[in-house]
Amino acid sequence: MASDQAPFPHRHLLGIDGLSADDLNLILDAAEPWAAFNRGARKADQRLAGLTQINAFFETSTRTLFSFEIAGKRLGAQVSNFHPAASSVRKGESLADTALTLNAMRPDILVIRHEAVGAAADVAAVMDCPVINAGDGRGEHPTQALLDALAIRRRFGRIEGLKVAICGDIRHSRVANSNLRSLPLLGAELRIVAPPSLLPDVVPPGIAAFTDLDDGVDGVNVVMMLRIQRERMPDALSESLGDYHARFGLSRARLDRAAPHAVVMHPGPMNRGVEIDGDVADDPERSLILQQVELGVAVRMACLDLLTRERRGA
Ligand code: NCD
Repeated sequence: MASDQAPFPHRHLLGIDGLSADDLNLILDAAEPWAAFNRGARKADQRLAGLTQINAFFETSTRTLFSFEIAGKRLGAQVSNFHPAASSVRKGESLADTALTLNAMRPDILVIRHEAVGAAADVAAVMDCPVINAGDGRGEHPTQALLDALAIRRRFGRIEGLKVAICGDIRHSRVANSNLRSLPLLGAELRIVAPPSLLPDVVPPGIAAFTDLDDGVDGVNVVMMLRIQRERMPDALSESLGDYHARFGLSRARLDRAAPHAVVMHPGPMNRGVEIDGDVADDPERSLILQQVELGVAVRMACLDLLTRERRGA
């Protein structure tokens, strides 16, 4: 919450790509006090008072949209949600024209989610205000990776040296894409685990790829499960969801193969009985899933604060 931190040296937050470990740690450190603040009864800070925050979500969202809205309001911003379904986008307006239109209303920060990879960067190129990418197709989802890092750091007291397995539909996941960049930068030892058809075409250097979940989770500290992103698959999955669960679903028995105090994470939305069993998801000791949601608000407050400092003269 302190404003004596070093300034965040980027105008926008479009991805983890291009950020340094120092940049990531700056945001994580800035989020910590907001996590405590958000546990208080009165959650009203006024540092963004008078600033306009637009959330433009062209793809569906529950937690990301809502947490950006709550984050902005807790900082005192005037938050407006732009609803493409009820807008001229339905009448064929291009993304560039929509961006220019939103820009003409003089927002102070824009949060965008869109189905096209690179959409946030394209919009940032025409906006006069900072832009946060809240997910661009299978591109990046930087605030999700940041909240994941914060959840891990708070549980283990560090990220450096931890073994993390990201499991499931890596190929179509922007969450995986951002975490594949952030976690190694922060010193984690990363593995990806998926059926061959859901692994990325190119496995980044230094990351081990597994096609068997039992092997993939063996001895890890963190098991991060991902949803099958059927909306991004040109062809239907070759196996049934029941078969997928049998081979790639996280059960209690599989979690027992991980390190003794291993935790389970999931960005949501989860499909219980497909990639994760309900008892594992609900395990109060092992599951960080609801803490991820809680910390998402703190991380987004930190991002909104850091990115608007220049405009506020802070
Ligand atoms: C994810 C997303 O939309 O990228 N959810 C989220 O933001 N928490 C993951 C998903 O859609 O499966």
